[in-house]
Amino acid sequence: MALQRKTKAIAEYGDFQTPAELAQKACGLLASSGLRPKSLIEPTCGTGNFFLAGIDAFTSIEMAIGLDINSSYVEAVRQSLSEKRPKTQARVEHANFFETDWQSLIDALCEPIVVIGNPPWVTNAELGSLGSSNLPKKTNFQNHSGLDAITGKSNFDISEWMLIKLLEWLNGHSATMGMLCKTAVARKVLVHAWRNDIHLEKAQIFPIDAAASFGAAVDACFLVCTLAQRAHSRECHSFSDFDPISRATIFGYRDSRLLANLSAYERWGHLQGEEHYKWRSGVKHDCSKVMELDRNGDCFLSGFGERLDLESDYIFPMLKSSEIAKGQYGLPTRWMLVTQKSVGEDTRFIRTTAPKTWDYLLRHGELLDRRASSIYRNRPRFSVFGVGDYTFAPWKVAISGFYKKLTFTVVSPFEGKPVILDDTSYFLSCRTEEEATYIASLLNSDIAREFFSAFIFWDSKRPITVDVLRRVDLVALARELGSERTMRGYLSQSSAKPDSGQCLQQQQLFGMFH
Ligand SMILES: C[S@@+](CC[C@H](N)C(=O)[O-])C[C@H]1O[C@@H](n2cnc3c(N)ncnc32)[C@H](O)[C@@H]1O
Repeated sequence: MALQRKTKAIAEYGDFQTPAELAQKACGLLASSGLRPKSLIEPTCGTGNFFLAGIDAFTSIEMAIGLDINSSYVEAVRQSLSEKRPKTQARVEHANFFETDWQSLIDALCEPIVVIGNPPWVTNAELGSLGSSNLPKKTNFQNHSGLDAITGKSNFDISEWMLIKLLEWLNGHSATMGMLCKTAVARKVLVHAWRNDIHLEKAQIFPIDAAASFGAAVDACFLVCTLAQRAHSRECHSFSDFDPISRATIFGYRDSRLLANLSAYERWGHLQGEEHYKWRSGVKHDCSKVMELDRNGDCFLSGFGERLDLESDYIFPMLKSSEIAKGQYGLPTRWMLVTQKSVGEDTRFIRTTAPKTWDYLLRHGELLDRRASSIYRNRPRFSVFGVGDYTFAPWKVAISGFYKKLTFTVVSPFEGKPVILDDTSYFLSCRTEEEATYIASLLNSDIAREFFSAFIFWDSKRPITVDVLRRVDLVALARELGSERTMRGYLSQSSAKPDSGQCLQQQQLFGMFH
């Protein structure tokens, strides 16, 4: 019970104290860059490792202020200070970050100011589930719309809010903020600063091993932001090591968007343009035990191990995202029950066109009805999602959105049927093997790889998104690779609209199975 209480408190206050060596290394890095601050702030100082490391590293400091919500930590830091007796004037206060008048406090300090530390690693959703109020008063700080709130985009890290606010309060001062945080948080903080004209002179990200220091399986970093009046930098050096002479990629903000690699963007940004072929996702059904089948001889097997004798009309070979990610796959070993040809299509026809399939669906009706996603609400019973003509295209060029690998795979029909992909894959539909092989060769070229590197943050949970894929103009890419005529030839075989050229053939192909 006591342990449970402790764990809850740790979670609620994002209480992972920074190891002294890491705090010393971070402050040493700032000091060796020539930083000579007069004032130091540690806004959530905990047991004081950062605070004390800062006082040691910056001998120029005249005033150091530490603050924490945990009174026993505040006492511990005061005790360490009385033992250490630093020359610097130091104040440690028991206070809540969210109730502190930071603007007045910062405005009264001598410059340059350094703000260091490691704000709590906890999200507002986690705090909500703990019933905690350790939150800023106004949580919709990024102007998320109601829709974003529903889809969970309004979930944010408390440290994101704290770091953004600190930058706003420091704006216009000569200051440096050096904070440990999740790398995804660091990027969001920078995007906010770049969009909102915060006077950043320099931004740097140094990776840390969060597993070793905090037992946390997340990409984390030491984010350093230097502010100066009239400065307007919109780029960040992301170092490969905890060292300013290690290799750096420069990401930043250009043309109103965040870019992962500015030099790749400068070189290949002109390949952005029209989406001649439309990127699609695979089929979503949210019930693999019923909708995905194994095959044993003539028999299909459900995820419950039932031996099924079903009509072949609605059953298609499928490939999982993991098979697409490999770049090569053997023969499909799984099948998918695809109950519709288009989103919202009436499914009651199955009763007459394929009675055994209908019985099977009815047997598992309760399970299918219980699918939580709102996309199935007010839809025909047994609906799937992400279906259209494109689903049944004979040839596809696919990539897994689940794996961190930029490999485009040609997917061929199997046993006379189109192969279906699951909803974690993206694909373009093609009519022939030649077309699919050609498109895959464009997308797998070094130039395309470099182009995509301008947009992909590989440390993101899902780095490859449809938004990234959609950016490439295949005609411009083909021109760069010297095969524009071939590309235009394929496009002229279809009508101008994406996908539409493939529709007729796909319908014919689908018709073969009905
Ligand atoms: C990740 S720990 C880091 C502590 C310290 N900065 C360090 O680097 O070792 C986060 C700290 O934030 C403190 N904290 C959490 N919520 C706070 C709040 N609302 N106001 C002030 N401090 C808070 C916790 O008590 C904890 O000491």
